[in-house]
Amino acid sequence: MSSSSDSPIVCNLPRVTIIGAGRVGSTLAQRIAEKNLADVVLLDIIPGMPQGLALDLVEARGIELHNRQIIGTNNYADTFGSQIVVITAGIPRKPGMSRDDLLKTNAKIVVEAAKSAIAHSPNAIFIVVTNPLDVMTYLAWQATSLPRDRIMGMAGVLDSARFETFIALELGVLPADVKAMVLGSHGDLMVPLARYATVNGVPVTELLDAATVERLVERTRNGGAEIVELMQTGGAFFAPASATSVMVESILLNQSRLLPVATYLQGEYGLEDVVIGVPCNLGCGGIARVLELGLTDGEREALHTSAQSVRENIVRAQEILAGG
Ligand code: NAI
Ligand code: 2OP
Repeated sequence: MSSSSDSPIVCNLPRVTIIGAGRVGSTLAQRIAEKNLADVVLLDIIPGMPQGLALDLVEARGIELHNRQIIGTNNYADTFGSQIVVITAGIPRKPGMSRDDLLKTNAKIVVEAAKSAIAHSPNAIFIVVTNPLDVMTYLAWQATSLPRDRIMGMAGVLDSARFETFIALELGVLPADVKAMVLGSHGDLMVPLARYATVNGVPVTELLDAATVERLVERTRNGGAEIVELMQTGGAFFAPASATSVMVESILLNQSRLLPVATYLQGEYGLEDVVIGVPCNLGCGGIARVLELGLTDGEREALHTSAQSVRENIVRAQEILAGG
């Protein structure tokens, strides 16, 4: 099936391509259009599905008061000249399934999507969302041969938002007043940095006892699974789409926000040749800076344990891709 469009493509406006028009992808399209950030190309393998979603979003424009174009397609040629490509294609987690169980199916989908997308948008910045996130970002980096500043994964913004939410709920404060940073891999071995979490500058460790902080850290680590268990039909998508739109916004508007981003490390934190979440400034060129925070021995050890698990899954994914 070919593409459907509400009007002809205008090439000089920012364009964001989203590969995978499922729950995360379609919600992200809505966020980007309604924040008036860019025109959106929504691509999926299911014939007619992205076209229908695009038309539905287009029909809401008059009510939502924006004029962004939204194109649904099954054809990579329609994604040409995108400033940003977001990969959400793949299967989500089902109850009882770990993120790593997704490895086999999603590795092939992500590598193929990354290669097809870069052929039509050679200057794009790539954001990977598909799980297992850190491994998929590594595979997409390899498949595209992009410099590390132009390819990254979204997870830390979501995990930090969850940690901030649980802190705000516990203290009865405005969620926007809570700031936190979650590093490491997107999974059970993520590293929420309670020491750096604050409510308008006041350390959370001054406001909550250690046992409560640990309980909130554990809930954060389990944040994705908690929603999967409740829904039984798939995973979270509202907060993941919001988190991804924050990264898109920081890049398109050159905001240089300091966000936890899954990036290819080259010696930072004593880690190399692995993708893992660390604080980065995101601007119009992608990752402008990887910030090395001071960590305690325990935090550093947790980050290295997290990285080791990603490394093992990268090896497994490479074996799968090689036909093993
Ligand atoms: P979904 O099942 O609603 O959507 C996935 C879409 O990908 C489907 O529409 C499917 O047709 C499409 N797709 C499959 N193969 C494709 C291909 N080769 N080319 C193009 N499209 C293809 O899943 P949902 O909930 O949107 O999740 C998408 C992915 O994002 C999952 O892997 C999920 O685990 C991950 N995720 C990651 C998060 C993070 O923090 N990094 C948060 C939430 C979800
Ligand atoms: C989440 O954390 C499933 O990775 C997804 O919600």
